[in-house]
Amino acid sequence: MSETAAGEYKFSKKHLLGLADYSAEDISYVLEQAKTFREVLDRPVPKVPTLRDKTIVNLFYESSTRTRLSFELAQKRMGADVVNFSSGISSTKKGESLKDTIRNISSMKIDMVVVRHESPGVPHFLTRCVEAAILNAGDGAHEHPTQALLDMFTMQQIHSEIKGKKIAIIGDISHSRVVRSNIIGLKKLGAEVIICGPKSLMPVFVETLGANVSFNLEETLAWCDVAMALRIQMERMGAVTDLFPSLREYHDLFGIKMAHLEKYPDFMIMHPGPINRGVEMESDVADSDRAVILNQVTNGLAVRMAILYLLSGGTRI
Ligand code: NCD
Repeated sequence: MSETAAGEYKFSKKHLLGLADYSAEDISYVLEQAKTFREVLDRPVPKVPTLRDKTIVNLFYESSTRTRLSFELAQKRMGADVVNFSSGISSTKKGESLKDTIRNISSMKIDMVVVRHESPGVPHFLTRCVEAAILNAGDGAHEHPTQALLDMFTMQQIHSEIKGKKIAIIGDISHSRVVRSNIIGLKKLGAEVIICGPKSLMPVFVETLGANVSFNLEETLAWCDVAMALRIQMERMGAVTDLFPSLREYHDLFGIKMAHLEKYPDFMIMHPGPINRGVEMESDVADSDRAVILNQVTNGLAVRMAILYLLSGGTRI
């Protein structure tokens, strides 16, 4: 956070590398701006010229559907010139290093870079290679700040404020960047957070995450206002794939079921996607009116428009 001479808040971030670098004021400010963009999305012509003079590159080294489309659509709705890079069809295949790729791209006068990479710390590394503003779209199992921002925006839509709310995050905690960014952001905004899942899917130093831990789904659902389910991230498990006996057993113990919705009538269901129906939750749960999973996707667009606007140093919406 920074303050003007008059003492009022002024957003002064150059990058979005993770929510660890953002104060509660910074996070609240982004969420406040996102409300304006959410309104823009409901207009007959959901476009604003805010980024008309900006060029943005989306650098995706890892597969993505939602996040990549959401960033690209947000940029186009704001009039930016957009170029897309995916590692599978680029010179990365010919042995070019990340640093050389980004320097070459930067020579084309890019203002902002959105990056997703399987290695934690890549967005931080890029800030040392180029002048452009860097936005982290997910770095390994480290952070996924725009996902947590859109999750918090969605929680605010439901509960009006996050302070004092009870949030349960259920599933593969070890391999999730979504959980890290959410715990950091939610704690800063005053929520209580419980992480719940099998012991084998909890990180070794679980207590350092700053959330309470539960191994009991039933108790967790009885307690929470929001239950956020996470996918089992097989692709990040490396050689160790025997962390639980079977998906069926995982679902039996940690999957959210229609019977839970009847028994505990208050909690809302969230999921960052992609969902594995029948694993994290029963298919009917994902389609029930307690789930706000598609609202999360729409809100993701508004939140990404807001952060792009703020990091472009923009003054016109
Ligand atoms: C998440 C991710 O990529 O970390 N998804 C997303 O951004 N929509 C979660 C996941 O892949 O399970």
